[in-house]
Amino acid sequence: MGRYEERQKHTEWFRQARFGMFIHWGLYAIPARGEWVRSHEKISVEDYQQYFEEFNPVRYNPREWAKLAKEAGMKYAVLTTKHHDGFCLFDSAYTDYKSTNTKCGRDLVKEYVEAFRAEGIKIGFYYSLIDWHHPDFPHYGDRQHPMRDNEAYKDVQHNWDNYITYFHNQVKELLTNYGKIDIMWFDFSYDNERLKGTQFEHMSGETWHSRELIEMMRQLQPDIIIDNRLGGDARKEEPDLHSGDFVSPECMMPAEGETDVLGRDVPWELCLTLNENWGYAKNKPWDYKTTENVIHMLVECVSKGGNMLINVGPNAKGDIPRDSIRILKEVGEWMRVNSDSIYGCGKSSLPKPEWGRYTQNGKMLYAHIYDRRVGGFRLEGLEGKLKKARLLEDGSELPLSRPWNGENYPDDAYVDLGVAGLYDERDTVLELELI
Ligand code: GLC
Repeated sequence: MGRYEERQKHTEWFRQARFGMFIHWGLYAIPARGEWVRSHEKISVEDYQQYFEEFNPVRYNPREWAKLAKEAGMKYAVLTTKHHDGFCLFDSAYTDYKSTNTKCGRDLVKEYVEAFRAEGIKIGFYYSLIDWHHPDFPHYGDRQHPMRDNEAYKDVQHNWDNYITYFHNQVKELLTNYGKIDIMWFDFSYDNERLKGTQFEHMSGETWHSRELIEMMRQLQPDIIIDNRLGGDARKEEPDLHSGDFVSPECMMPAEGETDVLGRDVPWELCLTLNENWGYAKNKPWDYKTTENVIHMLVECVSKGGNMLINVGPNAKGDIPRDSIRILKEVGEWMRVNSDSIYGCGKSSLPKPEWGRYTQNGKMLYAHIYDRRVGGFRLEGLEGKLKKARLLEDGSELPLSRPWNGENYPDDAYVDLGVAGLYDERDTVLELELI
């Protein structure tokens, strides 16, 4: 079996699940200016230490987070175990810069795993390849290190092997100490213009010792699926080993989905925020996407053969922002009666209709109607191809009947939506069984 077939088999559950919760949480919730605050404001390790001393999320209750994810219809979650600031939300044996050494004294990752697993939600770990706290990660001249322009670091030597050993050991403890882990979400590879010709010019691929890393991971957790941000090319005929199992477009919807050089589908997952920030920030209500927006993006991902991982950024007390809760609960109400049109679905061979989108699962075609339009509801090219039509939400029969003004469109099928018209203005779903 080639790498392509292997990857398809490996990602079967993931491509069925379609919908996940991203969780960005850590010390940066205290300054509340997003997870890049150290880099954007060039904050030194010393000045950032105050947040380590202060961190005490007294209301952290991951069971509530897990219940929200479940209610929203999410099948997996991905929590930042360590973000670019280097703070570990887990009890790592390789550093003191960890949640168990803060006032809260808790292994936040352990509690997250237990709570989400109890809700039957698959477990993902985000792990930053970048570490602005570690002395052996490049500082001066790096593209985004908080000390990138600080002359005091200009001649500092970094023992890169030391950092690689640290990083690989932490991945090993994450994949050893917390039971079955379903997803590893690395972030991210990049190039350093100012470090051309040095070992830090290309922070990707073998700079991370990715081959050795992947082999270790596959040994510890054979079923784990890995994103593509170690830097490999997932679209080759024989995808790079370190290109992982899925591509991870960020805050940008792929035009047609993701395919490789041979035009074959590549597993992909759109990751995006609910409110323009990953880490907690003082968001205004208008920063948030609408519930309709979130539903339409989830449907668009699935209609293009992909997943959607949407983010919440809990605050310093451990609470998910109330607007995020509101939106995810409303998405969950829609999912409760329409999830058959999401889980296990993917692309349809039909062209995108004017009134919305199609998702498909074998013989079951789902019409997502965003725009009621006028007259009998026309399904282009489907005359004689439909066994029956039902309103997915309540299972009620929808007659397949051609109206008098449909006589000029013999190839098209018509569904009588009845006087009630659209039931859910955001997205009314028809379940169409194909002959
Ligand atoms: C970008 C951001 C990082 C965030 C990630 C989520 O890489 O730099 O902060 O965690 O996107 O995809």
